[in-house]
Amino acid sequence: MADVDKWVYSNIVKDHFMHPRGFLVGAPKEGEFDAEGEVGSPACGDIIRIWIKVDKATDRIKDIKWQTWGCATAIASASAFVEMIMKNGDMKIDEALKITPTEIAEYLGGLPSRKFHCSILADKAFKKAAENYRANQ
Ligand code: FES
Repeated sequence: MADVDKWVYSNIVKDHFMHPRGFLVGAPKEGEFDAEGEVGSPACGDIIRIWIKVDKATDRIKDIKWQTWGCATAIASASAFVEMIMKNGDMKIDEALKITPTEIAEYLGGLPSRKFHCSILADKAFKKAAENYRANQ
């Protein structure tokens, strides 16, 4: 576990930053995703965008991708969030909505306390994408 009171990143954070899972290269293709969510951080002004593809019959997330204009922690947190959703197969939207920023930080082996706000971005952008998806159904 990283020392959360110091500016120390766990090896898990470094791995997700260096090898981000679910990063979308370029713009999404027409029809590639069913919904998008975007949020900005009031703490730093950074932005994250998440796209989801959903199986309409089962409400399971078939694909999830993201882009961020944020820091290393935002990148690692978005990558960890996607891995948490996809690692055991496609998760239902309701299950994914229960993932908290604290769980993302724990999954990453802890975050410096001053960087915790970065872990909130992925979770909030996903909630927006899920809302947008349901609004369009
Ligand atoms: S400092 Fe802005 S997302 Fe981390």
